[in-house]
Amino acid sequence: MPKTCKVTFNGETFYANCGDMLLDGALMSGVEMPHDCRSGVCGACKVRLVNGKVYGGTDASGDTIYACQARVISDLTLEAEPTPDPTSAMARVVDLVRLAPDVVGVTLELPRPFAYLPGQYCKLQFRGFPARCYSPTYPLQGAPDDRLLHFHIRRLPSGAVSSALGSKIRIGHRVRLSGPFGSAFHRPNHLGRIVIVASGTGFAPMWSVAVGAITERPQRDLVLIVASRKLQSFYMDGALCRLALFPNVTIIPVVSEQQSVSSVLRSGRPTDYLPDLSPSDLVYTAGAPAMTEAVAKIAAAAGARCYTDPFVSNPGEDEQAGLIARVVGWFDGSPRKNEDELHAA
Ligand code: FES
Repeated sequence: MPKTCKVTFNGETFYANCGDMLLDGALMSGVEMPHDCRSGVCGACKVRLVNGKVYGGTDASGDTIYACQARVISDLTLEAEPTPDPTSAMARVVDLVRLAPDVVGVTLELPRPFAYLPGQYCKLQFRGFPARCYSPTYPLQGAPDDRLLHFHIRRLPSGAVSSALGSKIRIGHRVRLSGPFGSAFHRPNHLGRIVIVASGTGFAPMWSVAVGAITERPQRDLVLIVASRKLQSFYMDGALCRLALFPNVTIIPVVSEQQSVSSVLRSGRPTDYLPDLSPSDLVYTAGAPAMTEAVAKIAAAAGARCYTDPFVSNPGEDEQAGLIARVVGWFDGSPRKNEDELHAA
């Protein structure tokens, strides 16, 4: 008879067999533990290990575990930060706008407001197309409307979904939306500096975090590093000008390729411009996996908390190859977001 372990999650207690995956144990006991991919990729199942030991599934900080990857080997006390319960709703496309040659802005209208935290993401299934993950973001211009959700989607010529935007997917197209998911969301009540690093359409969730942070505390010390590969893809300049009006905000725009259009734009990698970090900093990053990983390593070395939202890109894929790449990626432990699909860096 397998040994059982007592697990307390957010004050609720259940028993799991020693050696069981934590998430399986919770779900089999009827305990709602947030999850999505069940493959160690999306981070939706991250919980804080307050007491006890698990085998596997720990993240770089050591005190946060992926419930879908951690095996129960002792009694445990766990906590998860409160997030809105995932739900689903039907929506329709009400606006499609070209933000850059390779980025489309998509606006959805919902029958009722959709609860999510700034930086979280959703799954969208445009009718007749496979489901993909994208992050809702604050509008680049004007005020928000709680029945509208805005997304920035990188268009890939062979992307099963993104290539159809504006052709097979037009205004009025029906969309099933589910979520929210993800752990790289704005944490209020942080008194220290917030450092945000975004590349490509990783700007979408990070713009939400930045707006959430500055709305909470307009005087706060905030550094926002925003990068794109090409100058034409740097679509967020107008939004950045709005944020720059706040007194303690530093914005560092970076374009990977060399350019001579403006001396304001830096060249190189976003990590080249990271300020010296300290344990009092809170860091968020979204975009290319190599970049988010590099930022996370620098933050960990400085003792700063860091939340990452890596996107992975598979340009040139056809649908089947894309599916295979995603599955292989999950089992490799590579980042969760497959481009076309998953919003792109
Ligand atoms: S459900 Fe565990 S990482 Fe996605």
